[in-house]
Amino acid sequence: MITSRILIIIIIQVALGYFISPKTIAAEIDAQLLFKKHCVICHGEDGKGKTDLGEGLEARDFTDKKFQDSITDEKILEQIANGTPEKMFTFRDKLTPEEREALVPVVRAFGGR
Ligand code: HEC
Repeated sequence: MITSRILIIIIIQVALGYFISPKTIAAEIDAQLLFKKHCVICHGEDGKGKTDLGEGLEARDFTDKKFQDSITDEKILEQIANGTPEKMFTFRDKLTPEEREALVPVVRAFGGR
């Protein structure tokens, strides 16, 4: 009896720890969904930028190795926050810093890494 009570307490504590840990909060950001919602309109589902807007504004091909090699994670983060005047709008006000950070690996994934 006592052991099962201890077991229940342990389970509850583990569950609570799981729900309030910052890691869980970070994992709750659905970066793929964010990309779909905010970026696909120009950069395309495949990241190649072959959408009407992407082509018109000359978005780069995220699957291009040259692009991936030429850009740093910091630059990607900066680009998402600041955008480029008349080409890509800024996401500073639309996305939280955590959300912007979560998009870096999404951009990287198009390059196969
Ligand atoms: C209105 C169209 C548009 C939207 C929406 C958009 N972008 Fe862009 N993005 C562009 C264009 C155009 C460029 C090329 C800018 C340039 O030449 O400086 C670009 C460039 C980039 C670059 C590369 C910067 C570089 O130095 O080449 C990254 C990374 C990027 N965008 C990520 C994103 C992410 C992530 C989102 C969604 C949060 C997003 N973009 C939304 C149009 C867009």
